[in-house]
Amino acid sequence: MSGLLDPRLARIKAELSKRKVILVTAAKGGVGKTTLSALLALALSKEKGATLTIDADVSDPNLHVVIGVSPKTWVGEEKGIEPIKLDGLGYIGIVPFTQNKPAPLRGSEAVDAVREMLGALDYRGYENIVIDVPPGLSDVLLDLLNNVIGDNTQILVVSTPSKLSVDSTERYVKLLKDLGFKNVVLIYNDPHGIGKEPGEGLYVPYDPSLENAFGSLQKLEETKAYAKVKAVLRNL
Ligand SMILES: Nc1ncnc2c1ncn2[C@@H]1O[C@H](COP(=O)(O)OP(=O)(O)OP(=O)(O)O)[C@@H](O)[C@H]1O
Ligand SMILES: [Mg+2]
Repeated sequence: MSGLLDPRLARIKAELSKRKVILVTAAKGGVGKTTLSALLALALSKEKGATLTIDADVSDPNLHVVIGVSPKTWVGEEKGIEPIKLDGLGYIGIVPFTQNKPAPLRGSEAVDAVREMLGALDYRGYENIVIDVPPGLSDVLLDLLNNVIGDNTQILVVSTPSKLSVDSTERYVKLLKDLGFKNVVLIYNDPHGIGKEPGEGLYVPYDPSLENAFGSLQKLEETKAYAKVKAVLRNL
C-alpha cells in the first residue's frame, strides 16, 4: 500500500513526532548498528528517561539478543501491542511474533510487517525511541525515511574505520543529505580492532568484553564501549 493511503503511517508519524528519536543506520552490514542501538538506548534510559527500542530489522533481528529479551516471550495486546519491558527499556521487534522462527521477509513484506508492528504499538510511557534498521538502503529504511521520520529524528550513520566502510559511508551520508535529512551524525565503531580514528566523527573503540555482556543490561553497562557511547550521547 502506498504511503499516502496507509492510515498506519499517520499514527506512527504522530507518535514518533512527540518523542526524541534516534535512527541507527549504516551503508554496510556488520558495522555495529545493533550493538550501538542497544548501548545508546541503555544510556538514554539512564540519563533521559524511559526508552523504547525498535528492531526494524525484521529479516534478521538481533537486538533482543543484545539486550536480553528471551525469543520465546509473547507480547500483550490489550491496548495495542505492548512493548516488552526490561528495566527502563522497552523492546519491540518481530521475534516475539515469530517466536524466533525464520521469517525471511523481503521488500514490501518487510515494510508491511514494520508498519503493522509500529502502527498498533502502545507508545505510552516512553520519552525516547531508538530504531535499529537493516543494513544499507533497505526498503524498510526508505519507508521510514519517506513516511514517518520527522525533524526530531537524529539519523546516526555507523561506519567502521576501514577504508571500504568509509568510502561507502561517504556516499550514503551524501545521499541522506541530498534527500533533505539534515540531522545526520556520523559515528565510527571499530568491531574489528583496526584501531584508528578516521578524522571527523564520534568514535567507539574495539571492546572485546561486549561478547560476554550480550544478553545482560547490567553487564553491558560495565563495558568500555558503553562508557564511550554515554559520552557520544552527550554530543548528540
Ligand atoms: N566496538 C566493538 N567492539 C567489539 N566488537 C564489536 C563492537 N561493535 C560491534 N561489535 C561486534 O561486531 C559484530 C557485528 O555487530 P552488530 O551485529 O551490532 O552489527 P550490525 O551493523 O547490526 O550488523 P547487521 O548489518 O548484520 O545488522 C557483533 O559480533 C558485535 O559483537
Ligand atoms: Mg544489526
